[in-house]
Amino acid sequence: MTIDAQILGALRAVGEGAVSGADLAQRLGMTRAAVWARIEDLRRLGYDITASPHGGYRLVAAPDLLHADDLLARLETTSGIGRDIRVFRETESTNDVADKLARDGVKEGVVIFAETQTGGRGRLGRKWLSPANKGLWFSVLLRPPWSPQDSSRLTILGATATARALREIARCSPEVKWPNDILLRGRKVAGILLELAAETDRIRHAVLGIGVDVNLTPDDFPAELRSLATSLRIELGRPVDRATLAVALLRELQTDYQRTLNGQFEAVAMEWESLCSTLGQYVSIRIGDRTIEGRAEAVDGGGALLLRTEHGRLERISGGDVTLRRS
Ligand code: BTN
Repeated sequence: MTIDAQILGALRAVGEGAVSGADLAQRLGMTRAAVWARIEDLRRLGYDITASPHGGYRLVAAPDLLHADDLLARLETTSGIGRDIRVFRETESTNDVADKLARDGVKEGVVIFAETQTGGRGRLGRKWLSPANKGLWFSVLLRPPWSPQDSSRLTILGATATARALREIARCSPEVKWPNDILLRGRKVAGILLELAAETDRIRHAVLGIGVDVNLTPDDFPAELRSLATSLRIELGRPVDRATLAVALLRELQTDYQRTLNGQFEAVAMEWESLCSTLGQYVSIRIGDRTIEGRAEAVDGGGALLLRTEHGRLERISGGDVTLRRS
């Protein structure tokens, strides 16, 4: 863990209390002057840290920015998702950065955040709006030992974990629309983009990209999206702390990824089914230039949707664009 992560971790651990410079210096194996210099740097980033000669350092407030060291300190993990966190002020797409790291041989678990993306993308080649400092735009590099057939599990577990984190931090009740939309009161608040590098029978690596509209205001959305998309801030009427949500999201993702690796995908899928507004509905699914209609019945062990067509056949669908037909 970096020095800054350790300092922030120590300050957060005492909550309203304070940590003395001498204590920090001893724990970190550095001089008090060096600790002071790190504190000054953190202040320059916007951390409100008070210092008193007898009390020591106290963290009063953190800025509304994503700081890798702080996220690491709050996540307190050295393995799994978030063992390595990198934050970019701007990037084209965090999925591309994660993909590049994968091709360079980086181990799974690394997470890339960007404060803004200039070429954020959604499924089916759509553009993904990523205004600066208003959302969580991030990608997780994973190397699950599965066949590509089972890759939809990642989308399912990503949606389940995202919904849980939103419930926990924003106290809202999200629904999931298959395969990747998280909705609040019928409007999309988050989306998931899974990209794979795979051989016929093996996933080489997967990039799970997640975008959450956290503090966007109506003006941030182009007019044509306003009836379809929303943000936590719009729904709750107050801003949400992005770093707190980011930490909860990474924890929940790790929980569900680990559950799936342990052979408990069924439990994740059951939770997903309870959140899913698509199941039980008659839907049209567009896959390329083909459209299939039927009743969405369940997800299977590989994470694909099972659709009962009008002819009574059960089709296994792993991607597409869903439109509700009638209930
Ligand atoms: C969708 O709903 O179509 C998926 C949206 C996924 C957006 C995220 S933001 C972080 C990551 N980088 C991207 O370019 N896209 C994903």
